Amino acid sequence: MSSAQAIARSNIALAKYWGKRDVRRNLPAVPSVSLTLDRFSTTTEVHFSKQLSADCLFLDDQQQQGKPLERVQQLLDRVRSLSDEKRFARVVSHNNFPTASGLASSASGFAALAAAALQASGMRWTPAQASDLARRSSASAARSIFAAFSELPAGRRGVTKLAARPLHNVDHWDVALVAALTSHVAKSVGSTEGMQRSKKTAPNYNDWLKQAPRLCRQIRKGIRERDLEQTGTAMEKSTMLFHSVAMCASPPILYWNAATISALHAVHALRERGVAAYATMDAGPHVKVLCQAPDAARIQQALRRVAGVLSTVVLRPGPGVEAKDLDENS
Ligand code: DP6
Repeated sequence: MSSAQAIARSNIALAKYWGKRDVRRNLPAVPSVSLTLDRFSTTTEVHFSKQLSADCLFLDDQQQQGKPLERVQQLLDRVRSLSDEKRFARVVSHNNFPTASGLASSASGFAALAAAALQASGMRWTPAQASDLARRSSASAARSIFAAFSELPAGRRGVTKLAARPLHNVDHWDVALVAALTSHVAKSVGSTEGMQRSKKTAPNYNDWLKQAPRLCRQIRKGIRERDLEQTGTAMEKSTMLFHSVAMCASPPILYWNAATISALHAVHALRERGVAAYATMDAGPHVKVLCQAPDAARIQQALRRVAGVLSTVVLRPGPGVEAKDLDENS
């Protein structure tokens, strides 16, 4: 038996990925930049064994079938085709956050799985290889391979491999993301489906494709210069454009709820009082507020008072993926 374990953390995009250039290869149509977080991690073990007659997956102690298992099998197949490892695998995965919390994304899951599977296969692998492998399963997962700030470029014609690249490490900038959770219900439309529907039906989709690279450059520059106003302003534009594309799809995709809007008003009110706070939302109703770390407590307090906000959490820049071999008997 060959076994390994990896841990990866979730990430939040500051410059959003929304839209695929190539669905089959899962190549994004726009570049994205994200912050890997210090919390919300997935720990995954991969055990290749000749005793197994098929791959199997346990997620938070529940055996999985159907789509979740298929996506894991596809990743394992890729590792088997790259390495000398040809056996089936048992995959055991744990999230340290409630899977239905809505902050859960596939990012930490596929980043941890990619690293654990490569490590267990006995291959010598690089973070770029793990990122490319994770990206095939879920593009946002490519960014969770790296610590703190990283970028996933857009796919280009004729390019089949695509990995995220690290931009800046954890100690580059003392920022925080204050997350306001506004629902316990899983998102209404999954990202993959939402992106395809946006591409096919939203009249402003092409405009988004034009604007996104410029916003991404501004965000990268803002992060490099540790300029919160520049980063936050472009980040809000990226979020609003992506959500307006989703809202203009047919049928419309509205990820927000009433508390999302109330939280946005609270962020604007904070800014009017001189607090540098900027909001972003993913394919769900939660609001994440980017700020200087010393302002996080004040922002958290303000968000707690917003009607419909169920809980809040302060997130900080976190490390990249970590993988290790496991004892054969473990
Ligand atoms: C709104 O990475 O979940 O969170 O590649 O189809 O698995 P797939 O999509 P996914 O999309 C994430 C979309 C987003 C923005 C982002 O994280 O960049």
